[in-house]
Amino acid sequence: MHRYPLAKGTVVIRGGAVLTPAGLVDADVVIVDGLVTAVESNVTAPEGATVLDAEGCITGPGFVDLHTHLREPGKEQAETIASGARAAALGGYTAVVAMPNTSPCLDSAFVVRAVLDLGATTTTEVAVAGAITVGRAGEQLAPIAELAALGVQLFTDDGTGVQHGGVARRALDYCTGLGVTYAEHCEDLAIASGGVVHEGAWSAKLGLPGQPASAEEAMVARDLLLAGELGARIHLLHLSTVGSVELVRAAKAKGIAVTAEAAPHHFTLTDAEIASYDARFKVNPPLRPDEHVAAIIEGLCDGTIDAIATDHAPHTPETKDLPFDEAPPGMLGLETAFSLAYERLVEAAGMRVERLFDLLSTNPARIAELDAAGARPYGHTAHGARVAPGIPANLVVVDPSARWTVAGTALASLATNTPYEGRSMHGSVRHTILRGEPVVISGEAQR
Ligand code: NCD
Repeated sequence: MHRYPLAKGTVVIRGGAVLTPAGLVDADVVIVDGLVTAVESNVTAPEGATVLDAEGCITGPGFVDLHTHLREPGKEQAETIASGARAAALGGYTAVVAMPNTSPCLDSAFVVRAVLDLGATTTTEVAVAGAITVGRAGEQLAPIAELAALGVQLFTDDGTGVQHGGVARRALDYCTGLGVTYAEHCEDLAIASGGVVHEGAWSAKLGLPGQPASAEEAMVARDLLLAGELGARIHLLHLSTVGSVELVRAAKAKGIAVTAEAAPHHFTLTDAEIASYDARFKVNPPLRPDEHVAAIIEGLCDGTIDAIATDHAPHTPETKDLPFDEAPPGMLGLETAFSLAYERLVEAAGMRVERLFDLLSTNPARIAELDAAGARPYGHTAHGARVAPGIPANLVVVDPSARWTVAGTALASLATNTPYEGRSMHGSVRHTILRGEPVVISGEAQR
């Protein structure tokens, strides 16, 4: 199957440090016909080679996003597969997992195949998460076996959690039998009770309906019990509370096969932002107070949380400009994730760069089975491996010393709903290489 052909030609990434299996080394990287062929110092570029300057930069495995909302089919004014893929490439991503809450949703082979086909020629590889229930309605299981046969590895009703514990249990059991992974959007709607922000001092002060942390934690606890009992593997999406991190930490200590992700906005913003009543700060799960932000950072540093996932959720200005409680939840994430993670985790919290690449690339690639050992849905190439001869050249070159300022209208996403408007960022993505093709050079998308 040649759905994802390797690019012809030679590329030399010159200068800077390279994240290899042995750690960071100063070297150049040579790519020939889509594969890394050498990681060595002072390479002489052959005639006709494309040379990419990486002085002062770090070259590592391209990022993999476990949680991207592309709005095609259904809401192409907010994002298409092509525009989302361009935003992904600019953010350093060589693969993304598209979430199923499109219209129609990704609960049939027909729609899944259409999304995979549209994603086969874009500037990032597009895998999909299939819906776990028909219509994401939480009642009848979706045709999981049929979608798994297409190569779908993750199943979730993201946008909503599966409310009925019996349905969740059956789905987990079914996924286990098929060797695919159930992923949960943890939110008990009865406990959340229509809350649009975190229930606490700010919701009380502003008169906005709040949802307590327990709305998330109750479903985390339920799913961990079910996974433990069934010996099932489970992935928990966008965790945001102290209690969720504690529950996952305890479950891992018991040997439960759980993986978890957190989104950059949950480790960089607090619910104090909602004082502006600006719906760009409305997201699900909601922004939380400091102690929750600190717990997410701790979980990312100590290995409780396995992956940083963007939850990139584009919305048109017409919908985001509505009053806070009427606007849809969600914020852009693909083009700001690296800078936020670098600043908050490496610069401020002292995380090693190697661990940051694990969180942004190696671990999510493994969870989505987009790594070398995985099933690699639909013929996708391998992602997430540290740079060494023989791997497909799905790479990112990041510049930790770069400074830039976020402007929603300058982002490649069709939508502009970034909560970081006007914020100055540390660190940027300089080049992105997909299967040997430089799709981003010096911060510019090439197609
Ligand atoms: C998501 C979206 O917009 O699709 N929004 C969000 O706030 N994360 C769906 C969701 O998880 O509610």
